[in-house]
Amino acid sequence: MTRSSAPGKVYLFGEHAVVYGEPAVPCAIERRARVGVRRRDDGKLRVHAEDLSLDGFTVEYGGSADGQPDVDVPESLVTAAMGYVDGAIEQVREVTGEEEVGFDVTIESDIPLGAGLGSSAAVVVAAIDAATRELGVTLEPTEIAERAFRTEYEVQDGQASRADTFCSATGGAVRVEGEDCGSIEAPDLPLVIGFDGGAGDTGELVAGVRRLREEYPFAEDTVGAIGDVVRNGEDALEAGDLEELGRLMNFNHGLLSALGVSSRSLDAMVWAARDAGARGAKLTGAGGGGCIVALDPTDETETALSYTPGCEETFRAELADSGVKRLE
Ligand code: MEV
Repeated sequence: MTRSSAPGKVYLFGEHAVVYGEPAVPCAIERRARVGVRRRDDGKLRVHAEDLSLDGFTVEYGGSADGQPDVDVPESLVTAAMGYVDGAIEQVREVTGEEEVGFDVTIESDIPLGAGLGSSAAVVVAAIDAATRELGVTLEPTEIAERAFRTEYEVQDGQASRADTFCSATGGAVRVEGEDCGSIEAPDLPLVIGFDGGAGDTGELVAGVRRLREEYPFAEDTVGAIGDVVRNGEDALEAGDLEELGRLMNFNHGLLSALGVSSRSLDAMVWAARDAGARGAKLTGAGGGGCIVALDPTDETETALSYTPGCEETFRAELADSGVKRLE
């Protein structure tokens, strides 16, 4: 079996607006998806996944692209996960020229599905790396990122940026603006995550922002304002100015809220973090439920979140310097 892992991420700034060409700054974190693959010569794809959540609830399904998955978790999560794996394997068939090849795929992940920590990107990136290597082809991280982006783009009906997939493939902090993706320097950031145990539907949330933008010119301005926050955030990152970074994260959360992608539990966690003395806090990823990220060098935010109704899990996230990597 050939195995690879790839990290999840948090957005310091810029989710949603990045879909419209504004810059975004995601950072890879040390929560990983691990994908193992073994070639099958009958062309079938069989997927086994477990632990696709943080809190002990286990997603397990065995199934095949041409059969019925054996489902004991919300079907929408399984369907979404299967779609990403199918898409990744299509990219592998295309790049290797082995159009008929099948795989047994095993997924383990400590990144909850649909919670804003880039679970789908990490699975797709690790799957492409492992499956191409299983066929004797080694791709550069940037090529894996591009193919993983195409997978997300198709699964999300043409509504995806390169941010999640590039960040997961390369690791570290990155800046993405349209097709321009690159690594940037970031200080050691005291990141605290709060997770409400839920998930948002990225496709639906992105479509909701699109509708608002089409209906109201000021929603378009709101998206542009997020771009301005990101540009200021880049200066604060370069200067290592935590106070300013926190202020800008708060601003970014307010603008995302205005675009309708926050939720009661995300807002409750953001306010609990701020009340506990975090420099700033915002939702991360598509929103609708899932995770917030706060900046706090002390233990106060983690403690406050652990008592916040609606918060199921809280932990400190280390920046992941390396992106996709092979596992022995
Ligand atoms: C989802 O993790 C981030 C979004 O900006 C969508 C994307 O960039 O593809 C909401």
